[in-house]
Amino acid sequence: MGFSDLRRTRSATNKFTKERIYVRTLMLSDLEACVALEEAAFISSERCPRETFSYRLKVCPELCFGIFTIRRSKEYLLGHVIATKTLSSSVTESSMAVATSRNSPHNPAGPTIALHSLAIQPAHQGRYLGSTLLQEYIQRMSVGGCVQRIALIARDRLVGFYERFGFRCNGVSPVKFGGGEWMDLVREI
Ligand SMILES: CC(C)(COP(=O)(O)OP(=O)(O)OC[C@H]1O[C@@H](n2cnc3c(N)ncnc32)[C@H](O)[C@@H]1OP(=O)(O)O)[C@@H](O)C(=O)NCCC(=O)NCCS
Repeated sequence: MGFSDLRRTRSATNKFTKERIYVRTLMLSDLEACVALEEAAFISSERCPRETFSYRLKVCPELCFGIFTIRRSKEYLLGHVIATKTLSSSVTESSMAVATSRNSPHNPAGPTIALHSLAIQPAHQGRYLGSTLLQEYIQRMSVGGCVQRIALIARDRLVGFYERFGFRCNGVSPVKFGGGEWMDLVREI
């Protein structure tokens, strides 16, 4: 779904359809907005810590995108996608690890994008912003031939959402994070 489709969607409100919506890569200056969005969208056990956001926005901003609108002449972050690269073909504990002085989980040579966070502001969920951002992300990451696949883990209830975008579910992920079971999803590019 593209932006013109977003404006046409029946789920969007009239007020919303008049807003300008756009996607751009994130920068370190977006850190506070990303941390606030993560807090709003995820329960505490599933949130990415601030230092990890900071690390990812510093080392691989080209893999991190936000969907924005303008309010009172200021940008407002409606949603984000945060990712790193890994040599593994799926999301692993090590690709999700907190960076330290001796361990940098992002591997620029990795052919797999490990998508760690897709989040939309709760007040704006269900308006196809998540679909728009993910579609746009896949399109942008498909250009250039450097990426072979996008991998992520998701709760079982979201498997259908990701399958719409070409992700294949490979069953339960071995990743233990935040309690409970995660499904392993991969989309080949
Ligand atoms: C999951 C999320 C990113 C989806 O974004 P969104 O903008 O709300 O979703 P969309 O409006 O694009 O939804 C598209 C479709 O997916 C479905 N869907 C969206 N969220 C869903 C959910 N949590 N469970 C089941 N289905 C869902 C919608 O019902 C819709 O289906 P329809 O076309 O049949 O109506 C967003 O709800 C969110 O940020 N949730 C909290 C954080 C989270 O769980 N992120 C995913 C981590 S893996």
